[in-house]
Amino acid sequence: MSVFSLKVDIVDNQFYTGEKSPLFTREEAQKARSFHSKLNGYQPTPLCDLTALAKEIGVKKVLVKDESKRFGLNAFKMLGGAYAIARLLCEKYNIDISTATFDTFRSAIKEKMTFATTTDGNHGRGVAWAAQQLGQNAVVYMPKGSAQERVDHITGLGAECIVTDMNYDDTVRLTMKTAQEHGWEVVQDTSWEGYTKIPTWIMQGYSTMADEAVDQMNAMNVKPTHVFLQAGVGAMAAGVLGYLVDVYGSDNLHSVIMEPELANCVFRSGVKGEIDNVSGDMPTIMAGLACGEVNPLGWPLMRSCTKQFISCQDKVAALGMRILGNPLGNDPRIISGESGAIGTGILGAVHYHAQRKQLMEKLGLNADSIVLLISTEGDTDVKHYREVVWEGRHPCFEG
Ligand SMILES: Cc1ncc(COP(=O)(O)O)c(C=O)c1O
Repeated sequence: MSVFSLKVDIVDNQFYTGEKSPLFTREEAQKARSFHSKLNGYQPTPLCDLTALAKEIGVKKVLVKDESKRFGLNAFKMLGGAYAIARLLCEKYNIDISTATFDTFRSAIKEKMTFATTTDGNHGRGVAWAAQQLGQNAVVYMPKGSAQERVDHITGLGAECIVTDMNYDDTVRLTMKTAQEHGWEVVQDTSWEGYTKIPTWIMQGYSTMADEAVDQMNAMNVKPTHVFLQAGVGAMAAGVLGYLVDVYGSDNLHSVIMEPELANCVFRSGVKGEIDNVSGDMPTIMAGLACGEVNPLGWPLMRSCTKQFISCQDKVAALGMRILGNPLGNDPRIISGESGAIGTGILGAVHYHAQRKQLMEKLGLNADSIVLLISTEGDTDVKHYREVVWEGRHPCFEG
């Protein structure tokens, strides 16, 4: 007989203090959103109210922010890269961010610039997009095993794209070294000693989507009780969580950070109370989350304001992709890629689990819960999306 089997490890954060960060605040988020909202094609992405799914799993609301609709780029990531490049140019040419637009920068830039970065796909696509909008160059490095479709999206925006034979974290080091040799500007979404300004701006840029979500929830007259955020290096999770705890108060939000078990550096760090990185190959299907080194800038906030950490199997994300792609009742369909669907997958895995009651209790989920999730990407690897959703790869049942 086949058995429903999905592994979801949940740990409570013993180091929770609720202490907020002055870097990731409502004020900073609104600066970023004001910049983004001046870009051509800006529109808040939908916050989908999955009423039938909420009823099925026994909570009040499941709200999913659909980032596949972000500027036609199929993921949230450009919010960070574009904002960091804008702040960098403001600093270089003494421009006020509150009035800046891409037009301002295009007329201010004196010499051709090259922006360099490492990516699993989405961040590099955002940097390539911003560079193209500004008429500048981008060089994008990707780790080994990167999907050809993700490479094509980047080269399609006029950037040079190089797939290395290294994992993500070693590729970041290679990019840094090569950029230094060539005098390129590195626009990286993780930080290290002496490299904090750009990643701070990137993280602040991500909070635009949280600011939109708060407006959308206010319009529905609801406040989230739970937020589930996925982490690669944790820049998105920290940027968004920092903003949300500033708005709602840390103690009023059951915040959970989720990762694939094959790249669970934030989870391990959460258990230890200090950064505990993962090395080697990280062959998870959640390519956007396949990072082994925690962003040190975001770590203090994740340590102080996250209530729980989750590490789960790839099959969980696959379940989430299928749930969102095949909605119940009148719920809208969301095309969610591997890294986008993990949160919905966890809700599904808990619902079908033999220990459903205990897991719901552990996560503090009940009929009053209003759960905020971010589907951070659409089908950025269409071939794999179909293998999962049509062909049933990574099934929930074993045996
Ligand atoms: C789709 C998607 N979701 C989530 C993340 C995680 O972001 P971070 O690396 O900031 O934790 C990424 C990172 O690239 C991503 O591409």
